[in-house]
Amino acid sequence: MDKKRNIIIDTDTASDDAVAIIMALRDPSVNVLGITCVAGNLYVDQCVRNALISIDYAGTYAPPVYRGMEKPMIREKMVTAHATHGQDGLGDVGYPDPKGKPQPEHAVDAMARMVTEYEGDDLEIVTLGPLSNVAMAILKAPEAFKKVKMITMMGSAGLGPGNCTPVAEFNIWADAEAAQIVMQSGVPFTVVGWDACLGKAILTVEEIDALMADNPSELVKFCIECNRCLRNLNVKRFGSALIDFADPVAMAVAIHPECVAKMIDAYCFTEYKSESTYGQVVIDYNGVAGKPFNGRVCTELDADEFKRYLYSLIKG
Ligand code: BDR
Ligand code: CA
Repeated sequence: MDKKRNIIIDTDTASDDAVAIIMALRDPSVNVLGITCVAGNLYVDQCVRNALISIDYAGTYAPPVYRGMEKPMIREKMVTAHATHGQDGLGDVGYPDPKGKPQPEHAVDAMARMVTEYEGDDLEIVTLGPLSNVAMAILKAPEAFKKVKMITMMGSAGLGPGNCTPVAEFNIWADAEAAQIVMQSGVPFTVVGWDACLGKAILTVEEIDALMADNPSELVKFCIECNRCLRNLNVKRFGSALIDFADPVAMAVAIHPECVAKMIDAYCFTEYKSESTYGQVVIDYNGVAGKPFNGRVCTELDADEFKRYLYSLIKG
């Protein structure tokens, strides 16, 4: 087999993050070096617990889990999404305590250390939550981050409307200053926006029913049932109990690029100074600003390939 892809996952572990973590841990071509947790959808202790539960359900190996930033870097208000993913972030199903424990080291220190100690130039980071940990680690070890090959982030509205404000998506809106630090850092990044996670990437009720038919495994049940609250919300939001799998889409773009239908280069920056557009990621793919392109944006997903890949990991 080819050399494994070494990745660090940064997550505000709610229900779709859990599925994304499971995908990475079950893909034999990937080696997860560590999981760093950040406040976002949930308070950070809950994220840590949920990351450890996800490891148990993945049933493969247990990378170290670190507790990270409790609040955004500068923004006063801490916004959570308990209404979206449940009070416990995993659909309030009542999962038992995880087997593992978090490491004592802070996630920001751990990420900076892992990047510094990494020998090679192929380390990747996949982010599934606000960018507070990553921005702090970049500020802590800017030289070491020069060897990071790619940061793939689930973040921004992409080229469509936002899901928190007309222009902002949750992960960026929760800590826009952090997002701007990451985008300005010089580390190559790939943006997977909210728009790329909608449309045919969504798991329909029929697809969910098919997955749950015929004696589903504990893993399949977990991946669907932990998204129970999200499905209830989606009845109101989209008129149907579907699952929008934003973080699994971002994970797939990062570790299974066959899922990408269209990727564009662009100059990207995050707006953080204006209250009304706080958290908007401006994607200048025509070069109007006259700035060198600093990132890539996945603007279209091959949804069939995404689902085939997802099923192969959770059903296999
Ligand atoms: C993002 O916010 C959360 O609800 C999901 O986990 C995802 O990371 C989508 O806007
Ligand atoms: Ca998330």
